[in-house]
Amino acid sequence: MEDGVGLSQANCRAKGGSPGFKVAILGAAGGIGQPLAMLMKMNPLVSVLHLYDVANTPGVTADISHMDTGAVVRGFLGPQQLEDALTGMDLVIIPAGVPRKPGMTRDDLFNINAGIVKTLCEGIAKCCPKAIVNIISNPVNSTVPIAAEVFKMAGTFDPRRLLGVTMLDVVRANTFVAEVLGLDPREVDVPVVGGHAGVTILPLLSQIKPPCSFTPAETEYLTSRIQNGGTEVVEAKAGAGSATLSMAYAAVKFADACLHGLRGDASIVECAFVSSQACVTELPFFASRVRLGRNGVEEIYPLGPLNEYERSGLEKAKKELATRALKPSRDIRISL
Ligand code: NAD
Ligand code: LMR
Repeated sequence: MEDGVGLSQANCRAKGGSPGFKVAILGAAGGIGQPLAMLMKMNPLVSVLHLYDVANTPGVTADISHMDTGAVVRGFLGPQQLEDALTGMDLVIIPAGVPRKPGMTRDDLFNINAGIVKTLCEGIAKCCPKAIVNIISNPVNSTVPIAAEVFKMAGTFDPRRLLGVTMLDVVRANTFVAEVLGLDPREVDVPVVGGHAGVTILPLLSQIKPPCSFTPAETEYLTSRIQNGGTEVVEAKAGAGSATLSMAYAAVKFADACLHGLRGDASIVECAFVSSQACVTELPFFASRVRLGRNGVEEIYPLGPLNEYERSGLEKAKKELATRALKPSRDIRISL
C-alpha cells in the first residue's frame, strides 16, 4: 500500500486555528470503522485522523480524504504499519474484530477478538502509552480487562485512559424511552450502568432526565428492549453483521466527549465501562457515569439511589460480570 494517502498535508493544522487532536481508528475499514472514520473526519477537534486496518484502508482513506473538512487523513495497512499508525496519537478507537451472527452471544466472539485487541494494545503500549483508548470490540466486558492486562504487563496501565464504549446502550435507552414518553430523544438522558451484554446492561430508569415515572409494564418493556437492542439488530441483519451505523454514531458521540475532556472542558459526563477499582461495586470493571477530563476518567460517580427493580437487576448484572471478569484474566495469562 502507498502509506498515507493525503500525506502532503501531513503537517497541516486543523482549520480554525486550533491544533486539534490526533485520533487513530483501528479496524477503520469495517462496518463500524467506515462511518466512524467519516464522522471523525467531520469533527473540528480532530487535526489528524489515522485509519488502520488489515484490509481495504487505501480505498477508504482515499475516499474520506476528499471531504473538505480540517482533519488530515492517513491510511495504514497491515501489522507492519501499525506502529506508524499509532505513534503520537491522543485518542485510539478500536472497532476491530468480528461481529455476531444470529444465534451467537457476544462471548462467542471472545476467542478471535481477544487476540486482535491484545495485539493492538501491545502496539498502543509501545507507541502511544498516554493515549486515551476507546474499546468497541466485543465482548466489551472481556476485551477491556484484556486491554488492561496488556497495559499492566507493559507497565503502562493507567485506569483513567482505558474506556469500554457502552454509549450505544445509552443512545438506545434515550431513543426507546423517548418513544414511550412521546419526547424528543435529544431531551432524554438515561444512565446505563453495569456492562455491555444482556442482563449486565442496566438502565437506571428511576434516574432519567427529565424526571418521570413508568408503570411496571413499561419498566419491564424498556429494560428488556435496551438489554436486547444488539440482538434486535443482529436478527434484523440476518447474518450480515451487527449494529454499525448506530454504533458509529454512538462511538463518535463518546469520542467527542473524550476530546472535549482532553481539551479541558468542564462537566463532561458520560457512561463508560472502566476500571472502577471497586469504588462503585466490588467488581474490578463496571460501567457507570464518569467525568472526563485532561487525563481521561477524572471521576467515577456512585450509582445513586436505586429502586427495588434496579437493585434486583444490579445483583443479576454483578453475578454475570463476576463470571465474565474471571474468564479473560485466566485466558489472557494463558495467551500472553
Ligand atoms: P466488521 O467485520 O464489519 O469490521 C471489523 C473490521 O476489523 C474489518 O475491517 C477487519 O478487517 C478489521 N480487523 C480484523 N482484524 C483486525 C486486526 N487485527 N487489526 C485491525 N483491524 C482488524 O465488524 P463491525 O460490524 O465493524 O464490528 C466490529 C466489532 O465491534 C465487533 O466485535 C462487534 O461485535 C463490535 N461492536 C461493539 C459495539 C458496542 O456497543 N461496543 C456495537 C457494535 C459492534
Ligand atoms: C450491540 O450492542 O449492538 C453490539 O454489542 C453488537 C452486538 O453483537 O450486539
